[in-house]
Amino acid sequence: MWRASVLTIFPDMFPGALGQSLAGKGLAAGLWSLDVTDIRAHATDRHRTVDDTPAGGGPGMVMKADVLARALDAASSPDDTRPRLLMTPRGLPLTQARVATLARGPGAVILCGRFEGVDERIIESRNVSEVSIGDYVLSGGEIAAFVLIDACVRLLPGVMGRMASAEDESFARGLLEYPQYTRPQEFEGRTIPEVLTSGDHAKVAAWRRAEAERLTRERRPDLWAAYLAGKKAGK
Ligand code: 6GU
Repeated sequence: MWRASVLTIFPDMFPGALGQSLAGKGLAAGLWSLDVTDIRAHATDRHRTVDDTPAGGGPGMVMKADVLARALDAASSPDDTRPRLLMTPRGLPLTQARVATLARGPGAVILCGRFEGVDERIIESRNVSEVSIGDYVLSGGEIAAFVLIDACVRLLPGVMGRMASAEDESFARGLLEYPQYTRPQEFEGRTIPEVLTSGDHAKVAAWRRAEAERLTRERRPDLWAAYLAGKKAGK
């Protein structure tokens, strides 16, 4: 079973959104598991302190290496082969390729950062990889952990049910999704493109491909360039 272990100072946030929808059904069905470690439970002082002022001065607080080490070691034994991830805006960007690799593995141990950061020595000593979900700043890693776990568990065998396989999703092909329509045929004077109701499957496929390419070109020049380079290389 794919196992997610989350370390956070806000354990009540979990499973949260992950208890609903596709991920929640998969969780209830035993297709993956989630356990949550309250980092604060691994503090040792009377005030259950998890952070301290940054060495060298400056604003904010830094999560303490000793507390994080105890929390990590409680959540994951030395023979645990799962990758240890720290959710942080300075991490390597999360991509669908990274998600697919994680989903094929045994799971992940996910540390949710807070405050101005975590003591660098925990990243080194516990072989932690830093992951970002995009170029903006969240108030903590918890919501980023939701994103990472959701993206992974929907790829697990049995979670997607009778939906199209994840491989023919347009992101896997490097294109954005084409526009979709359903009944009624006319809505506020707007009709469904005729080709989609023609019954000509080849024409439908060609229209969808052209629309996916147009949207990618217009919205994501970065993806479009990669797509063109891939086509040239015969992919
Ligand atoms: Cl992974 N964490 C936080 N706190 N902010 C982020 C992020 C992660 N990715 C983008 N912004």
